[in-house]
Amino acid sequence: MPKQHKNAMKGTGMPLTTAQHLIDYLKLIRHPEGGWFRETYRSPEQIHALALPERYGGSRVFSSAIYFMLEQRDISVLHRIKSDELWHFYAGSPLLIHSISPDGGYKALHLGSNVAAGEKFQAVVPAGNWFGAEIKGRGFALAGCTVAPGFDFADFEIANREELLERYPEHISLVRRMTKA
Ligand code: GUN
Repeated sequence: MPKQHKNAMKGTGMPLTTAQHLIDYLKLIRHPEGGWFRETYRSPEQIHALALPERYGGSRVFSSAIYFMLEQRDISVLHRIKSDELWHFYAGSPLLIHSISPDGGYKALHLGSNVAAGEKFQAVVPAGNWFGAEIKGRGFALAGCTVAPGFDFADFEIANREELLERYPEHISLVRRMTKA
């Protein structure tokens, strides 16, 4: 966005209605899983490794949070982390979050503001589930993701297509569509 446009929007009450406005205003950067993000909170306090389940293999902060944005035709590819992830809906089109539990159980989480249509303002992806997201409508979706114990890239794994296909052949079309070749 041109600088004069950005400055003109500051404090004017002009609506931030496009993805680019919000990316700029919220200072979002690309996420390795797809989409855009910025960490907004990281607890200053740590949980000692000895107080955490062994899978973490180190200390973690109490909690962390990000803004997460997806644009039309962009997806968050299947990935997993070691903590539960709580998603919050903020603005734009609804998000469809696909979640596969370790035993292969599939769940679709509809994150959005149309409660009459069954969408949820908040949805949880349990630790260890493979999950990815796509936008259901047009434009963009802005959400938040909170993780406790806090997010660490050491706990983050992007799915390998061949490995997931071998493990979950029943989800072939989802895995093909939501992983990188
Ligand atoms: N920080 C960096 N990436 C992520 C993510 O995917 N989720 C959360 N909650 N925090 C992050």
